[in-house]
Amino acid sequence: MSLWRTKSVEKALDASNNGGLHRALSGLDLTLLGIGAVIGAGIFVLTGVAAATKAGPALALSFVVSGLACIFTALVYAELASAVPISGSAYTYSYVALGEFIAWIIGWNLVLEYGVSSAAVAIGWSGYFNRMLEGMGAGLPEILIKAPYEGGLVNLPALLIILLVSVILAIGVKHSSRFNNAIVVLKLAVIALFIVVGMGHVEPANWQPFMPFGWEGVMGGAALIFFAYIGFDAVSTAGEEARDPQRDLPRGIIASLVICTIIYIIVAALLTGLVPYTELNVKDPVAFALTHVGERLAASLISVGAIAGLTSVLLVLLYGQTRIFFAMSRDGLLPAVFSQVHAKTRTPVVIILATGTAAALVAGFMPIGQVAELANIGTLSAFMLVSIGVLVLRRTQPDLKRPFRTPFMPWTPILAILFCTYLIASLGAVTWWRFIIWTAIGVMIYFAYSRKRSHLAKV
Ligand code: ALA
Repeated sequence: MSLWRTKSVEKALDASNNGGLHRALSGLDLTLLGIGAVIGAGIFVLTGVAAATKAGPALALSFVVSGLACIFTALVYAELASAVPISGSAYTYSYVALGEFIAWIIGWNLVLEYGVSSAAVAIGWSGYFNRMLEGMGAGLPEILIKAPYEGGLVNLPALLIILLVSVILAIGVKHSSRFNNAIVVLKLAVIALFIVVGMGHVEPANWQPFMPFGWEGVMGGAALIFFAYIGFDAVSTAGEEARDPQRDLPRGIIASLVICTIIYIIVAALLTGLVPYTELNVKDPVAFALTHVGERLAASLISVGAIAGLTSVLLVLLYGQTRIFFAMSRDGLLPAVFSQVHAKTRTPVVIILATGTAAALVAGFMPIGQVAELANIGTLSAFMLVSIGVLVLRRTQPDLKRPFRTPFMPWTPILAILFCTYLIASLGAVTWWRFIIWTAIGVMIYFAYSRKRSHLAKV
C-alpha cells in the first residue's frame, strides 16, 4: 500500500547531507532558538484572558498541566531528533516511522503550528507596538491596526513585521541566529525584571479564591495557554543547520522547554498575585500588572522587551515553517522550486518569501479570534502522532542508532498522548470543526497532487 510507504533513515540522512544548508548552529544557539520560539504571545498576551475567564489565580496550575504534556512530548522528540537529525521535524520523523500519508498529514498540521501561530503572534506584536506608539502620542488610526472583519482595513504593523522578519531569514541563517540570540537575552532580562520588581508587590489576598472556575477552568486555561509552549520543537527543525545535531538537538529541546516552564509558572503566580484576576483581561497583562502596582518605568521596559520577544518568536516560527516546507518539497510532496537553496545566501529563498507573504496576508487581514486555539489543536495532534511514531519505530527499527533514548518507555509517549488528548478535549467544538476541515483539505491535496509526485512513487 503506497499510502504507508516509509522512507529509510539512511536515505533521509543522505538527502540531508547533500541539501546544501549551512551547519552553523551550536548547542547554545539551539537552546536560545527554542527559547526564542517559545516565550512570546502566550505569556505576554494570552495569560490575561486565560486568568480572567478560565483559570483564575490557578493559572500557574494550567501552566503545569500543559508544561507536563510538553515535557513528555519533548523527551519523545529528543529521541527522534537525535536518531533522524534532518530538516522537517515531526514531518520527517513520521515519514520514517509511520509512512507517507501520516507524514503528509503531520506536515499539513504543522502549518497550523508554525504558519498560523506566526500570524497570531504578529497580531499580538501589532497590539503592543501600537500601544507603544500611543504612549509617544503617535498611535495609528483604527483602520490601520484592525482586520476588515473587525471594522478596520488592514492590520498594517502585523503585515509589515512578518515581511521584515522574512527578509532577515532570507539573508542567512547565521545572521538570523545572532539576531535571535540578542533578542532572547533582552527578553529574559525583562522577565527577570518583572519577577524582581513584582515580588515586592504581591498581595496574597489576590490568590483567593484560588480556583474560581474549578478544575474545568484550569483545564480550559491549560488548553489555551498551551500556545505559550508552542515552538520548543522548532529546535528540531534545525537539524541540518546544527554543528553536532545528535548531541545538541536533544539538549536544546529539553533545556529550552525546562527553562520556559519554570519561568511561566513563576510569572503566572506573580501576575495573579499582583492584580485581582478579574481585572486581567487586557492586551498586555504583564506590563499592565506592573502599572497596576505603580511601577510605570518597569512596565514600559517590559513592553519594549515584549515587542522584541514577540519578534524573536516570529523569527523562529517562520524559520520552522520554511524548513518544513523545504523538507516536503525535497520529498516531492510540494513543488521542487520550494527546496532550491540560493547560491549566495545558502537559504531556501523562494519558500521563505512565499511563506512570509502568505503569513503576512493572514496577519494583515484576518482577526486574531480563535487563531491561537487552531494553532494549538494542530500542534497537539502532531505531538500525538509523533509519540505514536516513537513507539512504532522502536518496534520496526530496534537497531537504529539512538544517541538519545526516551526514558521510561513506553510510559513517556503514552503519557504524552493522554495529556495531549485531554488538552484537545478541553478546546471548544468550533476549533475541532475548523481542524477537521483543514485536515480534509490536506487529504484532498495529497490525493490530487502529492501522492503521484512523491519521490517514493518513482522508485
Ligand atoms: N509559544 C509562542 C508564543 O507564546 C508561540 O508566542
